[in-house]
Amino acid sequence: MVDTRTQPVPRTGVAAPRFSDRELYGLAEKYGTPYFLIDEATLRKKVAEMEQGFGEYKGVFRVAYSVKANFNPSVIKTFVSEGILFDLTAPSELVFVLKAGGDAENVMYTSITETAAEYEQVIRKGVKKIVVASHNGLLNLTEAVAKTGTTVKAMIRVNPEVHVHAELRGSMGHGKFGLQFNGGSQDSAFYVLKKLLATPGLEFDGFHFHLGSQIEDPACYADAIEKLEAFILGARRQLGNFKVNTLDIGGGLPVPYGKKVPSPKDLGGKIVSQLNSLVESIGDRFTLVAESGRFLSAESTVLVTRVVNMKGFGETKYIYVDAGYNVLLDSALLRHEYPVEVVPGGKPSPQKVALVGRLCDPLDVFPISSRSRLGGAEVGKLVVFREVGAYSLVMNMPFHSQPRPPVLMRNGQGSYMVARKGQDVEKLFADEGGDCLSN
Ligand SMILES: Cc1ncc(COP(=O)(O)O)c(C=O)c1O
Repeated sequence: MVDTRTQPVPRTGVAAPRFSDRELYGLAEKYGTPYFLIDEATLRKKVAEMEQGFGEYKGVFRVAYSVKANFNPSVIKTFVSEGILFDLTAPSELVFVLKAGGDAENVMYTSITETAAEYEQVIRKGVKKIVVASHNGLLNLTEAVAKTGTTVKAMIRVNPEVHVHAELRGSMGHGKFGLQFNGGSQDSAFYVLKKLLATPGLEFDGFHFHLGSQIEDPACYADAIEKLEAFILGARRQLGNFKVNTLDIGGGLPVPYGKKVPSPKDLGGKIVSQLNSLVESIGDRFTLVAESGRFLSAESTVLVTRVVNMKGFGETKYIYVDAGYNVLLDSALLRHEYPVEVVPGGKPSPQKVALVGRLCDPLDVFPISSRSRLGGAEVGKLVVFREVGAYSLVMNMPFHSQPRPPVLMRNGQGSYMVARKGQDVEKLFADEGGDCLSN
C-alpha cells in the first residue's frame, strides 16, 4: 500500500523497454489481458552491457545465461543467436536449450541433485562441462563418464562462505550450495580436487561459485576471489601445479526494480581488477564466465493487466487488476516490488492506493515500489508491471484455476509474435486431472 502523494511523478528513470500505449492496448484487444510482452532488442542489449562491463578482463570473458530465470524458448533462441553460454541445472533445461537451437558444447551443467543418471543423460546429449559440488557428485560423475566412455571437463563449485548483502544469498550459512574449501571431510574442495585430478575420464577445468541474486555491493566478490586465490596457492603446494582454465563467478548482477543499482560496468570493473590480479598471482589466464539470469532477462519484459474493479475502503482506494500473484509469485513470496504504471497515467490520487490481484487470498496484494505510478487508474485502463522477465514466467501456476497468460515478443524488426500461447481453460482442466476422470 502506498501514499501516492509522496510518489515521484516524472516519467524519467523508467527502465527500457518502452512500449507505446497504442501498442499495449492493441495487443490487449487482440490477445486479452493479462499478457506478458518481451522485447527481443532488450535481451540482446543486456548481453552487450555485460560484455562491456567485463571488457577490461585480460583473458577471454564469456557471458552465460542462467536458464532458470526464464526458459521461454524464444528467449533461449535469442540468446543462442548471441553465441553465449548456458548455465543449466536439470536435464529438462537441456531439452529446452537443444530444442531452441542451442549446442550442448555451450552448456555448463551445475546440478543440485548430481545423480549418476542425470550426468549420464546430459553427457550422452553432448554436454562437456560439468560442475560438481559434493563428493557424492564426483563419484556419480566418475561413474557416468566410465559408462559413456567419454571425457568431461569437470569444475568444482566452492562455497567461499562470504557475507553477501543481497535479497537472495547463497554463500555464508547456505551449505546447500558448493563445497567448503578445507572442511575436514571428503566434502571439501581440497579433497574433491585431489580425487578429481587423479580420475581418468575427468579433466579438471576450474572453479565455480555463486554468491546470490540482486547483489549491489561487489565486496562479496572481492572476498570470494581472495579466498579462492589463497586456496589455489595452498592446494598447489600440496597437489602440484594444476591449471585453472575456467573461473565461473556465478550470477547476481542487479536489476533496477525500484531504485538505482550499480551497472555491470560499475560492478564488473571492480571485480575485474581483482580477477586480473588473480591471473598474475596464479599464472593462469583462465576464461572468465559470469552466468546471469536476472540481469539478462528481467528488463526485457512487462506484464500487462487491466483494472477490473475499484472501491474505496476507509482512506484507501483499492485497484483490482485481472492478474494475481499466480503470475508474479515472488511479489507474494518475497514482497518483491516491481515498478507498476497505469497506462495512460494521470494525476496522482490524493488517497492512499492499494493494488490488488484477482485471487481470493489476503496475500494477493502487490507491493508498490517508489517508481510506481498509479495515478489515473480507472476500470478498463491497463496497468503495466515492468521488469518482470526473470523468475516470473517460470513460476506461473494455475492457482484459482487460472490459465497461463500468453507471452508475446516484439522482435528485432518491431513486429509481434506469440512466444507462448495462452492456456485455455479446457486444456488447464485436462492437465490438472480432468483427463483422468474417465479412468
Ligand atoms: C548457480 C547459479 N548461477 C546463476 C544464477 C543466476 O543468478 P541471477 O539470476 O541472480 O543472475 C543462479 C540463481 O539462482 C544460480 O543458482
